[in-house]
Amino acid sequence: MKKQTILPAKSINGGIELPGDKSISHRYGMLAGIAEGTSELRHFSAAADCHSTLACMRALGAEIKIEKDVVRVTGHGPRGLQAPRKALDAGNSGTTIRLLSGILAGQNFSTTISGDDSLQKRPMKRVVAPLRQMGAEIVARQEQFAPLEIHGARLRAISYEMPMASAQVKSAVLLAGLFAEGVTKVIEPARTRDHTELALEEFGAEIEHHGLTTTVRGLGIANGHGTITGRTLEVPGDLSSAVFFIAAASLFAESSLLIHNVGLNPTRTAILDFFLSMGADIKTPSLRTAHGEVVGDLAVKGAVLKGGIISGDTIPLLIDELPMLAALGPFTEQGIEFRDAAELRVKESDRIAALAENLRRMGATVEERPDGLRVEGRKAGKLHGAEIEPHGDHRIAMAFAIAGLAAEGKTVIRDADCAGVSFPTFYEELDRLVQG
Ligand code: S3P
Repeated sequence: MKKQTILPAKSINGGIELPGDKSISHRYGMLAGIAEGTSELRHFSAAADCHSTLACMRALGAEIKIEKDVVRVTGHGPRGLQAPRKALDAGNSGTTIRLLSGILAGQNFSTTISGDDSLQKRPMKRVVAPLRQMGAEIVARQEQFAPLEIHGARLRAISYEMPMASAQVKSAVLLAGLFAEGVTKVIEPARTRDHTELALEEFGAEIEHHGLTTTVRGLGIANGHGTITGRTLEVPGDLSSAVFFIAAASLFAESSLLIHNVGLNPTRTAILDFFLSMGADIKTPSLRTAHGEVVGDLAVKGAVLKGGIISGDTIPLLIDELPMLAALGPFTEQGIEFRDAAELRVKESDRIAALAENLRRMGATVEERPDGLRVEGRKAGKLHGAEIEPHGDHRIAMAFAIAGLAAEGKTVIRDADCAGVSFPTFYEELDRLVQG
């Protein structure tokens, strides 16, 4: 339960390479585990969440060797998983439990999967419902929470119109679709990140996506043919982690920061568009494509941020970045407001409540709403340092560490180590770049 002290800064300068993208690392780790042969996954995320996925894949029979950020996974093909000896532990990771449920639904054995206290409070009905439609038998605590007891079955392909915009739900159904007879179709109500689709393509599955509709052909497992094969893949840096440094650099006129090799998949860059719309100084000097994913460098300088409102279909495209934006609110001219973001209440913590509580601790003026938040801008007064309670949520801890740099006096982040869920070296990197 480490406490981290944050002192006022003058600017953010230098260069940084971020840990591998968390969303992509989860998908590569899972697909490598059900592929035939060895995959080499370079620049794999250091996040505790992604290591929860690797531990689950290992317990299911994949061979995994980890050397720094290179992970070698040897899978035994889509029929190669074995029943684990005990319940799988997804830790704090919603992506692990929800995506893996899709794979487990198609196995010829039963598995129990659970996670920490936070994960056991998060809604699982959203994946249980479509996987049941595909033929799996799933027992959930009170019909909606982990532990999930998943009795795998011969799955049937379905056409699933998703009731909510969620990449995790889409991915669970697509992964189950690999084990189903025929073509599984998913229709989204709004765009969400498409890393699963791109990763499936890389591993050799038959997948097509047009607009909001995605289809995947089952691997014909019941007939003993069809497979996906191990690959060498490089994970780009995590844009959701980069955002803490983009925010930090933007706050100070004298900042100049270069962020190398960041994933810039268009389903993730709504956050950059929003920063630009606020007047941020962000340039992308180079862009390339690797394994279907767009990758580039970001050059960030200090700027006066206007603030603004985010709502509707944009919310799912930058949901993980909302804590940082809210914590920036008091430093903007017009403040920051989110609407249609009730989903924030069922993330690693109730992020709307956690943001409102900690912003108030620092002296901000905040209106908390059932599906959003309004944070007043500069005119409402300067922020002062405070003791921050992240409620075990990595993104709350990191967002307030950045706010602390521009507040008056000392900020202390309680339980600061929770940042390791996505970014174990966050405070060291911040310390290296901060000019005090
Ligand atoms: C993720 C999807 C998002 C996001 C989460 C990671 C993913 O969740 O908030 O941190 O990797 O698919 P939802 O799909 O539930 O919105």
